[in-house]
This record gives sequence, structure tokens and C-alpha cells, in this order.
Amino acid sequence: MVMVYKPKKPRFSLSPTQKNVLFLCVILAIVLVCFFLYHERMNLLPQNPLPPVPANAKYRDKSATVEERTTDLLARMSLDEKIGQMALVEKNSVLEPTDIASYGIGALLSGAGAKPADNTPRGWLTMVENFVESSKTSRLGIPIFYGVDAIHGHTNVPGATVFPHAIGLGATNDSALVGNVASATREEMLATGIYWNFSPNLDLPEDIRWGRTYETFSDSATRTAELARASVEGFQGTTEQGKPKRALSTLKHYIGVGSMAWGSSSNKNFHIDQGTTPPEEEVLRDTYLPAFKEGVNGGAGSVMVGLNTWGDTKLAAEGYLITDVLKKELAFQGFVVSDWYGVYEIPGGNYKAAVTAINAGVDMVMLPFDYKTFIANVRYAVSHGEIAESRIDDAVRRIICIKFELGLFDADTQQSAPLEVIGSAPHRAIARKAVSESLVLLKNNEQTLPIKPGVRHIVVAGSSADNVGRQSGAWTVEWQGIDGNWLPGGTSILEGIRRRAGKELEVTYDLHGEFASDTPRADIGIAVVGEPPYAEGWGDNNTLTLSKEDLTTIENVKKRSRKTVVIIVSGRPLMISKELPAWDSVVAAWLPGSEGEGVADVLFGDTPFTGTLPLPWPDHIGQLPIAPSGRTADGTSLLFPRFFGLKK
Ligand code: BGC
Repeated sequence: MVMVYKPKKPRFSLSPTQKNVLFLCVILAIVLVCFFLYHERMNLLPQNPLPPVPANAKYRDKSATVEERTTDLLARMSLDEKIGQMALVEKNSVLEPTDIASYGIGALLSGAGAKPADNTPRGWLTMVENFVESSKTSRLGIPIFYGVDAIHGHTNVPGATVFPHAIGLGATNDSALVGNVASATREEMLATGIYWNFSPNLDLPEDIRWGRTYETFSDSATRTAELARASVEGFQGTTEQGKPKRALSTLKHYIGVGSMAWGSSSNKNFHIDQGTTPPEEEVLRDTYLPAFKEGVNGGAGSVMVGLNTWGDTKLAAEGYLITDVLKKELAFQGFVVSDWYGVYEIPGGNYKAAVTAINAGVDMVMLPFDYKTFIANVRYAVSHGEIAESRIDDAVRRIICIKFELGLFDADTQQSAPLEVIGSAPHRAIARKAVSESLVLLKNNEQTLPIKPGVRHIVVAGSSADNVGRQSGAWTVEWQGIDGNWLPGGTSILEGIRRRAGKELEVTYDLHGEFASDTPRADIGIAVVGEPPYAEGWGDNNTLTLSKEDLTTIENVKKRSRKTVVIIVSGRPLMISKELPAWDSVVAAWLPGSEGEGVADVLFGDTPFTGTLPLPWPDHIGQLPIAPSGRTADGTSLLFPRFFGLKK
């Protein structure tokens, strides 16, 4: 029998057209499912309309306690309203002004240099008032916080008093003065309706090649801790119960920032900034924690976590350090805020990063670019049990509690100091005193300084002599500062010298010290040299030398004068050991700010030299980093030790 193969007839078969239709249907179904899933996450508005809040709600009652008001408000908030409070949005990223109320955003910031179109004190006030008014139109009427980096005065605002950068305040080691600087800064901020300052900086720079060295008080844990407390109390006007009274300060950057190794930065443009902190916990506890402890004891209402990595964990993901150490051990009651894009540097994508940071204890997330995805992601995480609602409640309670403490719900107007305090004479006087106390006399052959009454002619030169931008450093009007002589109300060091010199004493100036050959040899030549402004990792620098131009200027000045005084305007020690023997006097002036007359006060002996080095002054780059004990990396001797400073 012959078997004939007879193919089975398929039960059904599709024609080519049917196949195409089916294919399209499958694609459409996939698209619809994706859309549904995306929509489920991104569906932000509108939710079921929530009931309006009665006018007599307890949280609106000024006579109720902060605790009662906070509890009442929290109980009325929807999940979305709570998550909104955890968002700190860069003001230029707000897509629609109405978003502030619609999303119940908790806070806005001016990222460095983010200014209003009308960049004047009044323009700032109007901008902030408008934002706050928008926030108050939300269902619950919760006012936003507005935050800025007023790290050496309210210096985003042209015309504000520019105080010395923190490294100069560290050189003063005068906690009463640091408190006065902080409270004057607060008053200038309040005049523009701003209550939140991302300051003080409590980092400890072990390696001065780091571009943020000048933002710190010192590399000494003890000196930093003392000044931390004074700064917080001065800025906040802390109450006896340790609560912020008039404004909110931020201890930053928690923790270990300043100990990062050269070359460890996670940012390809930088070398140290955003780098890795050594893994030993004892180092963090013994060296870095004391200043935060003092700041917390001083009542600081917020703490910013750093952009550094500890071991292999980004700080914003460090649950042990944030929750166990800071919140539990130090009993920190305020809120923890993340720094810039730091949360999203936690690996695993934006969703995982936000979940990890919030679970680690971050209460408010800084969002320089996008807030909608953040809010959607957190909502999704809560509804899927990846973040407990109790964690959200804890974060929001911490935030709104401080808004009540500061009276933000009750204020009729946002402004609580007059515009006239900005750059006012009393504030400039505090800054001038801070400048004179910050100067450190490093060398003074034959008592060249102070300038004696008999001196009749001085020559002045140098890149920082007549440049208020350079003497103010970065974080002044622009993030990277201004290299030039523009700053309303500022006085350059040259101008300060001229005013003090009066008619009796002739002052001849040339930028490069190229004085006419018939200029008679002056009694004293003053070369004011140093660093141009820089901020953050853009200032990471592996040489730290004076520029060729500066060195030539000093030579020119030397030729035209009997004695040469070199004033170094810089955010950190520079390598001067080779040139030092040829100079008669040397003064470290740090970044003194707008009041150049403070330098003249000391040069002419109206006030004495009292400043001492806030950190060791290396002899050469190979000595870096310098350990907290003062030991150099190569074991050789420093040029000047920490706390050095001649009196005359
Ligand atoms: C800095 C912080 C600062 C924040 C907001 C970040 O780049 O690291 O110190 O507070 O920007 O301007």
C-alpha cells in the first residue's frame, strides 16, 4: 500500500490582509497598555476634586500651638498635596506659575545666579511675593519656602552687602562677629521676602585644591563647630527652645565633604568636588560630625546632604547616616533636603533614585529641572507600597512644622524688613569689621606694616587691587562671580587705600605696576594679587600658583618702591614659598567682599592684625592633602601652620 502524504488542512488560515490587520491590532493594544500604565503614573491632575477647607480649620488658628496646627493640616492633606510639599523646584523650571498651587509645591529656589528680570532688590521682592501669592491660592493655602545661597550675604541681589566668604570669617575666629554677619544677612534676605538660606557650610577642606575651600570656615573641626553654632543662631534668631524664630538656615553638606580624594569626582568636569569620602566611620564621627551636632544644637531647621559618595553609596541614599545618625542620634527635628541633582545620581534610574532617597530619610528633594515626574514617581511608589505613607507623613510634618514656626501662614505680607536694610551703612560697617579681623599677617620684615604716618608716597598695582568682583569671589550676583569692577555700593581695596590715605599721602596706581620711569621710588609698594572668581568643581586646581601676570606685577612694584607688600586675595593658600623671601610683608586677605576699606583699616594700623590662618598654608602642592592632625601628605614641613598669624 502506498502511503500518500496529505497535508492537514489548517483549522483556519489568515489571508495576508487579515494578518496585517491582526498585526496592527496587536501594536495598537501594546500602545494602549503603555499609555494606560504611563497615564496611571503620570496622572497628576485633576484628581477627584477635594472639598474646600473651612475658614475656621484649626491649622488656620494663630492661637493654636504649632503642634496642633501641624497635626490638623497633615490630616487634611491628600497624598498628592503631601508629595508636593516635598518638592524644592528651581524657579526657572516652573512651567506654569499656576503649577505652584496645582501641584502644591513646597519650595522654590534660585539656583545660583537665577534672578528676576528686574534684577534689583525691589525686583526680587516682587518676584518672591508673586510666587508666594500663587502658592497661597492652593486648596490648603500652604505658603512656599523660597531658598537662596546667601553664603556671604544676600549676594544674589545687586546692592546687597557682600561679607567676606566663610574662609575669611574662619580667620577671624570671632563667633560674635559671625553671628552679626549672619543676622545682617537675614535682614537683607527678609527685605526681599526670602526666609531660607542654604548656609552655613560646615565642610572641612583637607585638600585646598578643592574649588569650594573658601566656602568653609576652616579645616579645624573645633573652629568650624564654634562658628557653626554662632552662624545658625545669628541667622535664624533661634528661640530659647532651639527653634528657628525669624528664618531658616541649612547645615551643609552632610557629611564628610572636604575629605574627597583628588581624581575621585563623579563629575567628569571636576577632580575633587562631588568625589568620594573615605569609608572609615570614625573619621566621619570624630572630624565631620561635631560641627553638625553644634549646628543642630543651635536649632538649625534644615540639613542638606552632600553630592559626595561614602564608600560606594551616594550620600542622598545613605539611610544609616541620614536617619540613624542625624535624625535619631543627634535628634535632628528639622527636615533633610537633597542637593541639586544629587538624588538622581543614585544609580538605577529616576524612579528608583527618588524611592531610595526618600526611604533613606531625605524629606525634600531639590529638583533643578523637572517636578512632574518626581511627583508622579513618588505617588506611584506610595500606592505600590515602595514608600510607606508614614515616611511621607514624617517628611511633610517636618516641613510644615517649620513653616508654622516661622509664621509663614500668618504673615500678611511676605516682606518682614524694609528694602533700605539692603547694603545699609550698619551692615557695611559689620562687613568692614569682618574684613579687618579676617586679614592674616604672614610676614612683616622690619615692621613694614602698618604704614607709618611719615610715609608720603605709595604705589598700588595688581589684578585684584581695583576689582570688587575679584575681591568678592563667586556666588556674587552670578554663580561664578564677576571678574570686574562692577558691584553697586562696593569699594575696591585701591579705593579703600585712597580714602584712608587722604591728601597727605600720594597714591599712584597702575594695574600691572608699569609706572612711568620718572615715577620716584615710593616708600611702599602694594601689590594686590590672587585668584579670579570660581565656584564649585570649576575651581578644582592642581597648581595653585600666582599667574605670570601677577608675578610680573609684583616685580614691577618692587622696582618702584623701597618696601614691597603683597596682599593675596584668594579663596585658599597659594604656593608662594619660592617668591616669599623677596617680599617684605605678606597679607592673606581671603575674599573680603564689598568693603575694601576694611583692608585699609589694618594696613594703616587703625585696627590691629588679629586674624589667624583657618587652615595650614602648604609649602608645595605635594603636601596635599593635609590630615586633620596637620600632617602633610609627603611628611615635609608646612610653610605656615594652621592658626598662624603675626600681630605686627
Ligand atoms: C550646591 C549647594 C547649593 C545648591 C543650590 C549646589 O550646586 O552644591 O551648595 O546650595 O547648588 O544652589
